[in-house]
Amino acid sequence: MTTATAPTATPDHIMGVYNRAPLAVERGLGARLWDDKGDEYLDCVAGIATNGLGHCHPRLVETLKTQADKLWHVSNIFRIPGQEALATRLTDATFADVVFFTNSGTEAIECALKTARKYHTANGQPERVEIYGFDGSFHGRSYAAINAAGNPGYVEGFGPRLPNYSQLKWGDHDAIKAAIANPTTAAIIIEPVQGEGGARALPEQCLTGLRALSREHGVLLIYDEVQSGMGRTGKLFAHEWAEDAAPDIMAVAKALGGGFPVGACLVSAEAAKGMTVGVHGSTFGGNPLAMAVGLAAFDEISKPETLANVRDVAGYFNQQLTGLKDRFPDIIVDVRGKGFLIGLKVTPVNRDFMAMAREHRLLVAGGGDNCVRLLPSLLLTVEEAREVVEKLEKTCETARAKAAAA
Ligand SMILES: Cc1ncc(COP(=O)(O)O)c(C=O)c1O
Repeated sequence: MTTATAPTATPDHIMGVYNRAPLAVERGLGARLWDDKGDEYLDCVAGIATNGLGHCHPRLVETLKTQADKLWHVSNIFRIPGQEALATRLTDATFADVVFFTNSGTEAIECALKTARKYHTANGQPERVEIYGFDGSFHGRSYAAINAAGNPGYVEGFGPRLPNYSQLKWGDHDAIKAAIANPTTAAIIIEPVQGEGGARALPEQCLTGLRALSREHGVLLIYDEVQSGMGRTGKLFAHEWAEDAAPDIMAVAKALGGGFPVGACLVSAEAAKGMTVGVHGSTFGGNPLAMAVGLAAFDEISKPETLANVRDVAGYFNQQLTGLKDRFPDIIVDVRGKGFLIGLKVTPVNRDFMAMAREHRLLVAGGGDNCVRLLPSLLLTVEEAREVVEKLEKTCETARAKAAAA
């Protein structure tokens, strides 16, 4: 049904669930984007941490074209060699023994939550159903994902909340210990660095502590590395910064496909023991096109020089952005995050700051706690980073002038 007066009706027939910037993007290369008027932008959104290798990386373009001539889709009722190759790369590089491929981060989270509950059933403890998430987290938009994160803005109005999902507060150690010791707890789910929540990095010793405690009580530890993984923090996965902190289950997506829709749920052999024939599936997940691009993206991102570039340029950013905060304490009140998952907490409404940055041809993403996020290509050079800082400086000047004129 359509009515011209429906509040969500948009002239372009796109469901009105996004607060879209008035920018029609037409073309991209590396860290640059061009709109339909030919204006050039420096892109620190990268599809929200998805175009890990920037736009139109030549190897990914070539791989996609070659695979398009060979085979697109066959179904998971057949063996797909590209899937086995990417699963081998992922398991060789991590704690995991098996992988389930999806088309998105949300689906990887869905698989992670189902795997955790099924494990306890297979393990003779079907009463273990409680899932604990953390405040400020984001796990995607499926019904289970919004209930795991518990953000009121995303769960309200959709009927009753799913039972046995609740949230803990960062730093509330007593509540965390009690939740993990609860004999009906199935799993803890956490982002090692919160993305949407405003680039908040969990202190490394907390991850180590969560790992030890959950192991002690037979509770599974799920990491959501959809945004923080695949090189974003300067290690292949963000939890690698912490000692002895490997999870039992991990959701990955975004940069895994370098811009092509690919997600994955990585699981240890033990935690996967309930996931037997017929209990889960996906039509498109792991199709040959996605796997070809995913393999090429994995090979490029996991190169030591790619990860070193993130660490080096992130160090430059950290120094420069701290300086900017010191020069504009009325505009930037905090610099946070890890690697290339950078948050600036600003005093103007973050959406206004993003619009002012666009005036200076810089694209930045929003985030919780009135942050703007910088999530550039992992291949961003120091010269490009210098340009980003210059544009941010101009944005701060514009913001200061607007505040003075108000
Ligand atoms: C940490 C995290 N988890 C899950 C998701 C959901 O991924 P997708 O939008 O691909 O479903 C996102 C997306 O922003 C995310 O940042």
